[in-house]
Amino acid sequence: MFKKRIVEKLLPVVSLMVALLLTVFNAEGQTTGPADANFYPGAIWPDNNGVHINAHGGGILFQNGAYYWFGEHKIEGKKGNSAQVGIHCYSSKDLYHWKDEGIALKVSDDPKSDIARGSIIERPKVVYNSRTKQYVMWFHLELLGKGYGSALAGIATSSSVTGPYQYLKSFRANSGKMPFYPAGTPENDKANCSDTVTNANKFFCRDVSSGQMIRDMTVFVDDDGKAYHVFSSEENYTLQIAELNDEYTGYTGKFVRVYIGHQTEAQALFKRDGKYYMLGSGCTGWAPNAARWFTANSIWGPWTFHGNPCQGPGSELTFKGQSTYVLPVEGKKDAFIFMADLWKPENAIDGRYLWLPITFKGDEIRINWLDKWNLNLFDQQPHNSP
Ligand code: GAL
Repeated sequence: MFKKRIVEKLLPVVSLMVALLLTVFNAEGQTTGPADANFYPGAIWPDNNGVHINAHGGGILFQNGAYYWFGEHKIEGKKGNSAQVGIHCYSSKDLYHWKDEGIALKVSDDPKSDIARGSIIERPKVVYNSRTKQYVMWFHLELLGKGYGSALAGIATSSSVTGPYQYLKSFRANSGKMPFYPAGTPENDKANCSDTVTNANKFFCRDVSSGQMIRDMTVFVDDDGKAYHVFSSEENYTLQIAELNDEYTGYTGKFVRVYIGHQTEAQALFKRDGKYYMLGSGCTGWAPNAARWFTANSIWGPWTFHGNPCQGPGSELTFKGQSTYVLPVEGKKDAFIFMADLWKPENAIDGRYLWLPITFKGDEIRINWLDKWNLNLFDQQPHNSP
């Protein structure tokens, strides 16, 4: 009787402990991330060691059945806004639980190196090149001590997805080259750098010989294996989309200018039913602004601007976030995750991640805030916004 009462009293406590242990340890005995299989936008997101994921301005590569998340490793304080460590990599099979795979690209201890500690290395994106069997990491690079004045892209390669990546080179884009104009481009939109240069073309023309500036950026690989570098150029006023060579380590020289003079940053591209979608932000540094989206039937455009895809309270500031990537979920139709950073420039390491589902109304996209959600949302047909 006495024993039974003790057991009855202890039972809830024991079950609670077992439940807690089960949520904290997975089958391999590793500690897991969130206590359950859900996304909690804006919350601390623990990795397999219980440490908040440190992969800001990131992108994700799906390879050999796993997702690999690459992002800027930040440290505490304002100093964390520059590269003190390198590019961090995590892996996951389910997108909720992430294993720390370490630093994929390390900053250099040599202050003369392009990727010296204290330089700025932002928005890394890794793509796999099946011809060369190399993983190619592209990033926005600013040389040590030069603020944001260098405006370069850097690349590093590895034969293993998690690295280590070897730094190769840095450059501006397409020096000596003029843009490609798809059929139907109005004469007025064509840059003329030999006669009187209009205001809209002044930075473009200034940089033709030295190469175009590169700041916020992403890399997009199309279904046919062709890859494109998409970046803020011309003092951040204009987007450029530039075709990459077969090795993904440089340009072919073919590029277009998009949404001239409108300062689009934080580009993220995806393709659905043959249509290209691009998300981006305005240009207000670490402070949030309204997101924007575009569509095109060809990567070369014309790109149509559609305004802000976010809806509801907080939508005018992208729920305090700024886009970094759109992740197609493997094995699910029309399942795309909008990935954004909630920057914390005063204490960079505390930056958070806003992952939200993209919903479609025909060809239109919507992004709504959710405190908590999971991938089952994509199985509800249609997963349209109101
Ligand atoms: C943002 C940009 C970030 C970072 C920041 C620096 O606009 O998206 O990647 O460069 O400015 O102020």
